[in-house]
Amino acid sequence: MATDCILLAIESSCDDTSAAVLKNGEVLSNKIANQQVHEAFGGVVPELASRAHQQHILPVVDQALKQAGIRMDELNAVAYTQGPGLMGSLLVGSSFAKGLSLSLGIPSIGVHHMDAHVMAHFIDNPKPQFPFLCLVVSGGHTQLVLMRDENSMEIIGKTRDDAAGEAFDKTAKLLGLPYPGGPLIDKLAQEGDPLKYRFNTSKMEGYDYSFSGLKTGILYFLQDAVKANPDFLKEEMPHVCASVQHTIVNYVLANLLRAAEDLGIQDIGIAGGVSANSGLRKAIEAEAGKRGWRAYIPDFSYCTDNAAMIGITGYYKFLNQDFSSIDAKPFAR
Ligand SMILES: Nc1ncnc2c1ncn2[C@@H]1O[C@H](COP(=O)(O)OP(=O)(O)OP(=O)(O)O)[C@@H](O)[C@H]1O
Ligand SMILES: [Mg+2]
Repeated sequence: MATDCILLAIESSCDDTSAAVLKNGEVLSNKIANQQVHEAFGGVVPELASRAHQQHILPVVDQALKQAGIRMDELNAVAYTQGPGLMGSLLVGSSFAKGLSLSLGIPSIGVHHMDAHVMAHFIDNPKPQFPFLCLVVSGGHTQLVLMRDENSMEIIGKTRDDAAGEAFDKTAKLLGLPYPGGPLIDKLAQEGDPLKYRFNTSKMEGYDYSFSGLKTGILYFLQDAVKANPDFLKEEMPHVCASVQHTIVNYVLANLLRAAEDLGIQDIGIAGGVSANSGLRKAIEAEAGKRGWRAYIPDFSYCTDNAAMIGITGYYKFLNQDFSSIDAKPFAR
């Protein structure tokens, strides 16, 4: 009988320290320590992030092992985020994982953070069938990933500048909302009219995206509106949020749907932090339903950064004996 794979996974690419334990691909625990220290700065401060990871990593790993009911000496492998991310943050998680791997004599497995966002779909059931087309919309990326099997990921479209998450966060900043503003825009949008204001998006070649024009359009629109009516934001906030959300959701979904039609794909999904957006979740379900396709949306806890998604990616690599050398270098981009 094949031996079990009990795997510890660590995610520390940005400002969340997370540890998860998986047994044969099943998530036994998934603990996350968020960093509040950045709120006052309106964005993540890299040096503060790495310091906070150092404080959080041991307690978070301890909690994950405890909840899973697993002892350190029962682990068969340790997976960690190798990149992309903030270098100081990645160094904390990867050094910890490599130290553990050396001391326990178990393999370490470096995982690509963006592959892991897509692989979050393979944690719960039902799992997508191949070919599977996934729209990854996060704080730093917007890309369309085509999976023909568990081990292949082809990026067929991507943003040329900002990411969808940045478009949400930058709009929130213009509206005077705290960082990260994406979830707040989502909340305020519930009360607003999504068709009240129109914003232009850029049509790019192939399946690519660009958010810089939209961002500038929103900036000028708000400047003019506030000049004409100083109370504009107070009066119109929910409508602006709903209209911006509607614009971004339609824009990111359009290429996913067009690409799926072009390639004859019927299994589509969303991943990354912005896939927590309620407008996007509803829209992909509705569009897939209309066409008789299957839409996959990860559980909320697996959308934003988390170690369970690193763990499931690490598990498939473990099955392929795709281990990393001890001098595997973290990469920022
Ligand atoms: N409900 C929501 N609506 C819109 N945006 C959201 C929502 N929840 C989270 N986000 C956005 O998701 C982003 C964070 O996602 P995630 O944690 O995957 O990004 P990241 O890890 O910083 O970036 P990357 O994965 O590209 O390195 C932020 O921009 C945040 O505003
Ligand atoms: Mg992420």
